[in-house]
Amino acid sequence: MDAIEAIMTRKAVRQFDRRPVELEQLRRIVDAGRHAMSARNLQPWSFIIVRDPGTLRDLGALCTTGRYVADAPAAVVLLKDTENKRWADIDCAQAVCNMADAGWAMGLGTCFVGNFDSDAIARRLGVPDRWAVFTVLPFGYPDLGNPPSAKPLKPRREMVHFERFGNPAP
Ligand SMILES: Cc1cc2nc3c(=O)[nH]c(=O)nc-3n(C[C@H](O)[C@H](O)[C@H](O)COP(=O)(O)O)c2cc1C
Repeated sequence: MDAIEAIMTRKAVRQFDRRPVELEQLRRIVDAGRHAMSARNLQPWSFIIVRDPGTLRDLGALCTTGRYVADAPAAVVLLKDTENKRWADIDCAQAVCNMADAGWAMGLGTCFVGNFDSDAIARRLGVPDRWAVFTVLPFGYPDLGNPPSAKPLKPRREMVHFERFGNPAP
């Protein structure tokens, strides 16, 4: 799958089948995150790869709007550098996109978790004070019994302009 196809077809996956995710796949996913652009190339991120079922269960319990993490075969906890106040959130968001698209290209799904107990996750994973949890990304093969659905996109003609706002794009 090429990059454009991965970007255009990726869907949020919240239900996973039982197939394990190999460490090498997770390494590639994290490396895709590490290759994201970042302001001044400060790379204000850190990644924790999690495959231990007990840890995944605990993380799921701490992800208020991402209980599905508990049932995933793996996760990447993305940490942001709190000393980088200006751009760290934007940089980390781009690392998330890279990881989601890279995972999708390998047949793996994920879904952003927006609400979680950051301090409790940090304590659980021994994260030093300088780092804050940006998000938890579960990774696994989509459960084809409950396949993810494509999101409705706002109409192109409303969102895309040509030369001046309001001119329809060709
Ligand atoms: C910043 C952000 C926060 C999100 N938070 C959650 C969340 O807490 N729980 C959840 O199930 N999905 C969450 N999502 C997933 C979105 O609902 C999903 O990406 C969106 O509906 C578009 O679907 P797609 O990922 O299939 O393109 C979040 C996505 C983003 C970008």
